[in-house]
Amino acid sequence: MNPLHHFSNDEKQALFDALSQIKSHPYDSYNAFTDELDGIINSGKIPAFFHEICHKIKEDRTTGKSSAHVLRNCPVDADIPELDQEDPFKDKLAKKKTFVGEAFLALFSKLTATPLLAYGNRFEGSFFADVIAVNKYSGYDSQFGDTELAYHNDRSAHEVRADFVTLLGTRCPQNELIFTNYIDGKDILEFISPEYEAILREAHYYTPFDIHSLTTMNVSESIAHPIIEGDSLIRYRDSWTIYTKDAPEKAKEALIAFRYAMTRATKTHHRMQDGDLFSFGNQRGLHSREHMEIVDKDTARTRWLLKTYSFKDKETAEKFTHRYKKEAFGCVDD
Ligand SMILES: [Fe+2]
Repeated sequence: MNPLHHFSNDEKQALFDALSQIKSHPYDSYNAFTDELDGIINSGKIPAFFHEICHKIKEDRTTGKSSAHVLRNCPVDADIPELDQEDPFKDKLAKKKTFVGEAFLALFSKLTATPLLAYGNRFEGSFFADVIAVNKYSGYDSQFGDTELAYHNDRSAHEVRADFVTLLGTRCPQNELIFTNYIDGKDILEFISPEYEAILREAHYYTPFDIHSLTTMNVSESIAHPIIEGDSLIRYRDSWTIYTKDAPEKAKEALIAFRYAMTRATKTHHRMQDGDLFSFGNQRGLHSREHMEIVDKDTARTRWLLKTYSFKDKETAEKFTHRYKKEAFGCVDD
């Protein structure tokens, strides 16, 4: 996928210098970290070009022009530690001493006015997660595994779901062809008849929780849900989402029609590189991970992306205020 903007080295350095001024720790003192970031923004230290880029992305999302954007040569930390994949998050906290990548993701969230979302029982409630293989999930169909991932939304079984997922390329092995793919819900709907679309908007389907949720949360089965909501929001995990036991025959046909429409819909394919930011709709579309060519499996599984979830706006974030931990707005309590 072509980047919306490729930062020059001077632009990257200007952002790096501004974000390096933050002294607070994003994992231990998140509120102090974002307060410092606010101070930097309010004092005009973020160059105008980045305000303009974020404004353009917000405009594209609002008008429906695009829900997927790539920025290239973004500021990331100078020292990227190698993580122990037994527990990469814990090892990151022990080894990572600078937080430019986290600051850049937080800045992107603020300038696109998309408040960050975290889950209290994942990554210790941190707003900055890691997409990297975890040894114990090896072979599982999970974002924390080392396999391909079929088209899905993140947390499709959870009540509080991100509107946007943003990835920052932290370590992307150059010889491994691993792609992040995206299909917009609008493009799927183009191939579905009004009759089937109406059925897909009814709660005849359910999506089991993934292995990570099952092993870290007290959950078993998700409630019945529609596959299409709103204008073109999608709730679906390919090869997992299925019709309920008492669903009418038409609901099964509609699921097949949806699957056919996915196959025919226009897709975006992006190979993350170090310093790439890729932000895309989590409910407006579906994303997947595809291993086009793996040269060295052991190297491929060290691929590491920093990741944030965000709401589409402040009003949406505020709808779930009753679910947040007292000390952190946006961090869901389970
Ligand atoms: Fe995902």
